[in-house]
Amino acid sequence: MSFLKVDNLIKTYGAFHAVDNVSIDVERGKVCSFLGPSGCGKTTTLRCIAGLEQADSGRISLGGRTLFDSEKRIAVPPEERDLGMVFQSYALWPHKTIEANLSLGLRIKGLPSGEIRDRVNEMLELVGMAGTGNRFPASLSGGQQQRVALARAMALRPKCILFDEPLSNLDLLLRERMRFEIRDLLVKIGITAVYVTHDQTEAMVISDHIVVLNKGKIQREGSPSDVYNYPRDRFTAEFLGRTNIVALDRKNSNPGAGIVTAANGVRFSSLDAKRLEDRSETGEFVIAFRPETMLVTDEPTGGQNCIPATVVSSQFLGGTTQIVLDIGQGVHVTAILLGDQSRTENTQAFVSVDPRHVLVLRDSSAATPMAGTPALRVPEPA
Ligand SMILES: Nc1ncnc2c1ncn2[C@@H]1O[C@H](COP(=O)(O)OP(=O)(O)O)[C@@H](O)[C@H]1O
Ligand SMILES: [Mg+2]
Repeated sequence: MSFLKVDNLIKTYGAFHAVDNVSIDVERGKVCSFLGPSGCGKTTTLRCIAGLEQADSGRISLGGRTLFDSEKRIAVPPEERDLGMVFQSYALWPHKTIEANLSLGLRIKGLPSGEIRDRVNEMLELVGMAGTGNRFPASLSGGQQQRVALARAMALRPKCILFDEPLSNLDLLLRERMRFEIRDLLVKIGITAVYVTHDQTEAMVISDHIVVLNKGKIQREGSPSDVYNYPRDRFTAEFLGRTNIVALDRKNSNPGAGIVTAANGVRFSSLDAKRLEDRSETGEFVIAFRPETMLVTDEPTGGQNCIPATVVSSQFLGGTTQIVLDIGQGVHVTAILLGDQSRTENTQAFVSVDPRHVLVLRDSSAATPMAGTPALRVPEPA
């Protein structure tokens, strides 16, 4: 049963569709992330849910209560939606103490001062900030300020909490730690949450459910492991981690027998091959497999999908070794292996990839590569 329900939401700016017919169901007590590159419509969707932006059409309900319905002309004002919000900029009042920052919303709600004090202390305790009530925001680190912002949102006991890239202003180490903190906290409280991020690892750590957005549309959704392991389309595969993309020769493939043939003639056994027979699947397809699912050996393994290759380059990266291999006719694939498994350039080797990991993906427009994560591009055979 869905708790937060968004149906056919559309938000345009002039002729531009920032949110293009998005429908989302979030179960009670679960964390749902909107994941996608900058400009894909994450914030706009979130702001429509919060009521800070009015959608052109669609419906939004929370716990069975309609918050927005374009046909019925219902648009509940933001402050009456029972939602909490946490932004990238912590949005704390700099000249007010932490306690005053947390109390403000409760005072506006008209709570008695004794109860306000109790709730403020309870919330600061919850986020591990007990005893900081008399301090000012500037005396706290970025991570602490973000925890206070979360405590403030929680103090109003919202039905659902909305996050918009809350960790983007923090340095990398802190960001990596705060992911786990926020996840633990949300699970402990058991609150329903929507979490906007462009960071795939953050989404994987924090969410029960990930909605991948691209150009205002839902590209793929599911559990973190489903979305990562079975991306279904090229955009999702490339946005969530690295992947090898190899051109598919559909004519010479035999999906019924579980075989897909690459444009360079290499035949792959693939548990995903049957998708090519599915009439509901339209458009172009590519073959894909993740670098960490590959094995590189001196001799044939005797297993499936063991392909003779030439080592193009080999780089020991510390924890892993990255090896680029030519699997015929100039088709390059990249393997990422644990530890130091360096090889000499221009030597022969064998690449293996399990049929479970050979995916057939719809060739949606490729994702913009994330900083520090070069997309693996495989040249078309000459
Ligand atoms: N007020 C606005 N007027 C015009 N275009 C807007 C406005 N707000 C957002 N957009 C456009 O809508 C698209 C989605 O924006 P946004 O939801 O902020 O993306 P994200 O949060 O995924 O980075 C972007 O192309 C952005 O330029
Ligand atoms: Mg945004």
